[in-house]
Amino acid sequence: MTSTTTLPGGTWTLGDRTVSRFGYGAMQLAGPWVMGPPADRAAAIAVLREAVELGITHIDTSDAYGPHVTNELVREALHPYPDSVLIATKVGADRDADGGWPTARTPDDLRRQVRANLVSLGVEALDLVNMRMGDAAGPRPGSIAEAMHVLVELQEQGLVRRIGVSNVTADQVVEARGIAPIVCVQNMYNLAHRGDDPLVDQLAAEGIAYVPFFPLGGFTPLQSEALTSVASRLGAPAMSVALAWLLQRSPNILLIPGTSKVAHLRENIAGAALSLSAQDVAELDRIGR
Ligand SMILES: NC(=O)c1ccc[n+]([C@@H]2O[C@H](COP(=O)([O-])OP(=O)(O)OC[C@H]3O[C@@H](n4cnc5c(N)ncnc54)[C@H](OP(=O)(O)O)[C@@H]3O)[C@@H](O)[C@H]2O)c1
Repeated sequence: MTSTTTLPGGTWTLGDRTVSRFGYGAMQLAGPWVMGPPADRAAAIAVLREAVELGITHIDTSDAYGPHVTNELVREALHPYPDSVLIATKVGADRDADGGWPTARTPDDLRRQVRANLVSLGVEALDLVNMRMGDAAGPRPGSIAEAMHVLVELQEQGLVRRIGVSNVTADQVVEARGIAPIVCVQNMYNLAHRGDDPLVDQLAAEGIAYVPFFPLGGFTPLQSEALTSVASRLGAPAMSVALAWLLQRSPNILLIPGTSKVAHLRENIAGAALSLSAQDVAELDRIGR
């Protein structure tokens, strides 16, 4: 499906599906530390509906958020999903009673998680499943082959439309691509955390999306003197500058900033359209290099 958008950054095509580069990450809609229900369910539903109303066509979620909570919110807010909206989910971790994220990547784990996502999102096939590797501390070396083969099997069964990888090393990206086409890599990356710079450029050259998680710093919001200084010179919120920088960094970067507030969603969309000068970018580049 092709579509256009008036959102900052325009569009990107994930495999055969065009989405807005400005997307939305639903993780922060669950309760504290991504466990349990939101404090204000109506507000969470309102954010999701506003996102789609404003033209966002890429929503990132996971059945591990809550667990089940954000998928159920997405379903309540948006089902039946407009054809234009792509919902990306992920598999590879469960939740424990303490809010931990235990790795769960045996073939049976992955089949169970895909089925759970189908149920909680209320769909017959998942638009995009990211195979999440590593652990809470980041990517870890090791083969992704077994997990990829399970996702391919589920794709052949018609339960998964597109495959991506997440929290991965560059070697795992190469290995995954040797097994099946992938449409995106979702790794941690932002102004201050730029270990994936070479991977971003390599994927851009090969037409694969790079979807940074924690684009605003996640649980520890981005803070830096240079960011504050550029933002105050532009008269813009620091978060807007961080998002605009990502959009300008590379055309294959898709944004999935999270927020539980409609006001922040609107502010972020408006702010991501900021045009950063070469001087702004040079100052911001010093933060993470
Ligand atoms: N693949 C993975 O392993 C993985 C890991 C983590 C996350 N993710 C995905 O990545 C998405 C993005 O990550 P994230 O949501 O954790 O982090 P983030 O987008 O970096 O930051 C979200 C935080 O920023 C705050 N925020 C947003 N806009 C703001 C504004 N204009 N002013 C001030 N504060 C603002 C939000 O608070 P308010 O609610 O107050 O706005 C929220 O606490 C997630 O939703 C999830 O879908 C994937």
